[in-house]
Amino acid sequence: MVVTKHWTKPGDFKGNPTENDFKLVEENLPDDLIDGEILCEAVYLTVDPYMGIPGEHLGKPFGKYKTMFGEAVSKVLKSKNGKYPVGTLVLAPSGWRTHFISNGDQPPLRPIPFDLGQLSPSLALGPLGMPALTAYSGLRMCEPKAGEICVVNGAAGAVGSIVGQLAKAKGLTVIGFAGTDEKVSWCKNDLKFDYVYNYKKITLEDALKESAPNGVDVFYDNVGGDFHHEMISKHMRIRGRTCICGSISNYNNKEPKTYPQNNLTIFLKELKIYGVLVTMHKSEGPNALSELAECIKKGELRYKEEVYDGFDQMPKALAGLFKGDNFGKAIVKASNYP
Ligand SMILES: NC(=O)c1ccc[n+]([C@@H]2O[C@H](COP(=O)([O-])OP(=O)(O)OC[C@H]3O[C@@H](n4cnc5c(N)ncnc54)[C@H](OP(=O)(O)O)[C@@H]3O)[C@@H](O)[C@H]2O)c1
Repeated sequence: MVVTKHWTKPGDFKGNPTENDFKLVEENLPDDLIDGEILCEAVYLTVDPYMGIPGEHLGKPFGKYKTMFGEAVSKVLKSKNGKYPVGTLVLAPSGWRTHFISNGDQPPLRPIPFDLGQLSPSLALGPLGMPALTAYSGLRMCEPKAGEICVVNGAAGAVGSIVGQLAKAKGLTVIGFAGTDEKVSWCKNDLKFDYVYNYKKITLEDALKESAPNGVDVFYDNVGGDFHHEMISKHMRIRGRTCICGSISNYNNKEPKTYPQNNLTIFLKELKIYGVLVTMHKSEGPNALSELAECIKKGELRYKEEVYDGFDQMPKALAGLFKGDNFGKAIVKASNYP
């Protein structure tokens, strides 16, 4: 008999997610598959900041759920479906589960959309997965041009580290902000960002006085809150473009902050402010990710992963995102492959 473990979230988060918000439950899966079915075992699971957003903001299908949602790379253990032979790797929104049965459509299975070569399959959840596509699509909306100045926060994270490198490759001056000196040093020395600051040690004002005294053309915002407000109201150049990608600093604020309107600045400078939602860019995924996979294989695109060992680490890994524990893409390794 196959026993699947899954993590449930019995109630709402009270503030940012903590390890105590989740409960591990076990369930037996049927011994026999019916025609068309596949039994899968998760190898790598992702934790992402959106999993910590209160349910009411996510709406259907996430508003009312029991098992935590999310994507995983899984291996096929048993198969009665010719499309997915035993040993195949698949991507699926299978939630925080060790094992699951799919008929190919429910949950929907996808092959890894690029040639992995010698790369770890976990990359399909990070630098060659959803966060990378978010970086790629959001930066493109901002029409970055060589010679311009780009600010990215969350710079050492899954999305931010790719944004900064893509902007560098396009010839922009990249200014990154991250929360530890180790992260700052990686962005500067390995990713070759032009300026990188520890936002816990220097104000945005002082940092930009040095690196962008005449303003910023492209602002890729992963953090929101005070950082966002100050950038828009003070530091953008005329016709600057902002991509609002995330707002991790205030997803779970008990008393949400309000800010003075900055409409005047926005129209006087003709700023463009875009939101990016990765699910709107699915069709671009295969081409964009194949392109990025080639860059990674050639060593032109760098990445880091924070790998938590064991399915029991899922809550810790998620909670860690909100404390800056992850250095690069946070991943949970649940089983071995091959
Ligand atoms: N719109 C979309 O479709 C989409 C898709 C994917 C991700 N996102 C968003 O993009 C952002 C980055 O996601 P990711 O997956 O790349 O996460 P990540 O950057 O890999 O991990 C989260 C990081 O956020 C930073 N952080 C946490 N709390 C913070 C705070 N109060 N103030 C400033 N920084 C804080 C921490 O880094 P430090 O140590 O540097 O503080 C932490 O390591 C998130 O806001 C996420 O929701 C949006």
